[in-house]
Amino acid sequence: MALGADFEVTNGLREFKLKNKSKELNDRIVKRSSYFKTVEQTFTDYFHIIQKNRTRSVNQYLTHWIYPYKGKFHPQMIRALLNIIGLKEGDTVFEPFSGSGTTALEAQLLDINFIGIDISPLCVLQGKVKTKSVYVIDEILKLKNTLLSKLKPSLFNQEHDFYKVLKDIENEDVRDFYTLARLLAVSDTVRRGRAFEQSFIKNLNLMIDSVKDYKEITDKLHLRLGDINLQEGDSRKIGLPGNSIDGIITSPPYSIALDYVENDAHSLEDMGYKLNEIREDFVGVRGKGKERVELYNNDMVKNNFYKIAA
Ligand SMILES: C[S@@+](CC[C@H](N)C(=O)[O-])C[C@H]1O[C@@H](n2cnc3c(N)ncnc32)[C@H](O)[C@@H]1O
Repeated sequence: MALGADFEVTNGLREFKLKNKSKELNDRIVKRSSYFKTVEQTFTDYFHIIQKNRTRSVNQYLTHWIYPYKGKFHPQMIRALLNIIGLKEGDTVFEPFSGSGTTALEAQLLDINFIGIDISPLCVLQGKVKTKSVYVIDEILKLKNTLLSKLKPSLFNQEHDFYKVLKDIENEDVRDFYTLARLLAVSDTVRRGRAFEQSFIKNLNLMIDSVKDYKEITDKLHLRLGDINLQEGDSRKIGLPGNSIDGIITSPPYSIALDYVENDAHSLEDMGYKLNEIREDFVGVRGKGKERVELYNNDMVKNNFYKIAA
């Protein structure tokens, strides 16, 4: 309906019969829909996109899988929501708690511009790597072997201070890519007891394959990609100019289910952050028992530019 179709559901909820047929409508459904496989024998873009999946989960296609972030949106649902709230090519969607970057990537695929804020530097890094690496895949590939030989201490090459090596990479998006590859291995080592070096190489290769997939599908489907603007910050202090966004998608922090700092403690520390210091600005899990909800509500209005009226 959001795409302008008048239809009847048939075949035990498996198919839709279009009542208002036109080439324009078919093309729109092919280009923008979520979940549908075909429109009158033509495979949808969505169907082509989800074939590019390096994981066993149907929700983790293209670069969505990169980094094990708990509590992500299902990307298909976001693609559908972008249509349902009526965003078109060239419009801008805003996400005040942008998390792992699911909305960023889905908006980008639909040529919708994205502005996102998250307080966690690790989240912002994830969103950037998922959406920006596609533009620098050639540089990423060019650097791979040199970097691996520098990072792997050997008789001939002793330089293995990872962050020191990364500092020399000029292009920020390439540097971000290799930083997240490291953090993925850090997470694998801590959470699953994997050996660091093997995990790093395996994940790095998988990440590269996923970015190549993204590039390939963009070319094959002639996708124009939306602009991505991801920033680290406190969304209670947003200073966006008037009329700069056309829609909002949001999933605020959990009040009791997830402690974001604790959950990613190893990676945040590896990035050089002091957990107690950055925790201060996170909305979320504080206190015990019943007081948690009250503390959460206080957190939500704390620091707010626009105080909510009583
Ligand atoms: C439920 S998650 C969002 C998940 C996201 N929709 C996704 O698909 O990955 C909520 C996010 O809010 C962020 N957050 C917590 N306090 C914040 C604050 N004061 N300003 C901005 N983001 C904050 C957390 O870091 C977390 O990533």
